[in-house]
Amino acid sequence: MRFDVLTLFPEQIESNVHKSITGRALDKGVISLNAVNIRDFCGNSYGKIDDTVYGGGTGLLIYSQPVYDCWKSLWGTQDDKPYTVYVSPKGSVLDQRKAKELSSKKRLCIICGHYEGIDSRVIDKICDEEISIGDYVLTGGELAACVIIDSVSRMIDGVLPNEDAYTNESHMDGTLEAPSYTMPSDWDGMKVPEVLLSGNDAAIDEHRRIASLVETWMKRPDMLDKLEITESEWQKMLAMRRTL
Ligand code: ADE
Repeated sequence: MRFDVLTLFPEQIESNVHKSITGRALDKGVISLNAVNIRDFCGNSYGKIDDTVYGGGTGLLIYSQPVYDCWKSLWGTQDDKPYTVYVSPKGSVLDQRKAKELSSKKRLCIICGHYEGIDSRVIDKICDEEISIGDYVLTGGELAACVIIDSVSRMIDGVLPNEDAYTNESHMDGTLEAPSYTMPSDWDGMKVPEVLLSGNDAAIDEHRRIASLVETWMKRPDMLDKLEITESEWQKMLAMRRTL
């Protein structure tokens, strides 16, 4: 998958994505990254990219034309047109389902605003959707773009060791992952649940399934509303809760 990022700070995107798991995915060629500076398309010798907002208001807004020219420079024929996302606090909030959906695109173009953002007309003209990474305001879209690239990349074949690495984890099936433990089995008087040491795969799966529901109930009760929990599961959850 190819990521194109339109930004005033390409080095912020590159330094982040070239690290760790996404960095290795870039090295392997499973994903590719093209971070382009919108300023290179400003069309004037002094690099002016923004201006005050019509009708008044604080801050500066990035012009439409450089964003449009920068975006158009990325693709030749209509067939190459990348799926294009504008990151902004006004977008729909990113979740695991959206990250999975985006991971099936051949090309994803992410446009980052800075200062007060970008003239709305170019966003309306070229963007397929607007995505936020949460209900708070960042100084620019670059961190949001990195969050999208990270969450999308890890669901692309060949980025993680196998599909299990992301299917058995929080948010994939609307629950949080069960707590997990490593050596030693008794740390500071806190013991790992006996069943996890038993080697009994069926009992371990059942324990993890109920522990995942309990974890969701304790940490994100809002997520529980969307699940269908049977009477027998509730009994097991209550019993497990009493042992914590
Ligand atoms: N730009 C500024 N704030 C943002 C947010 N919460 N999500 C995505 N992009 C942003």
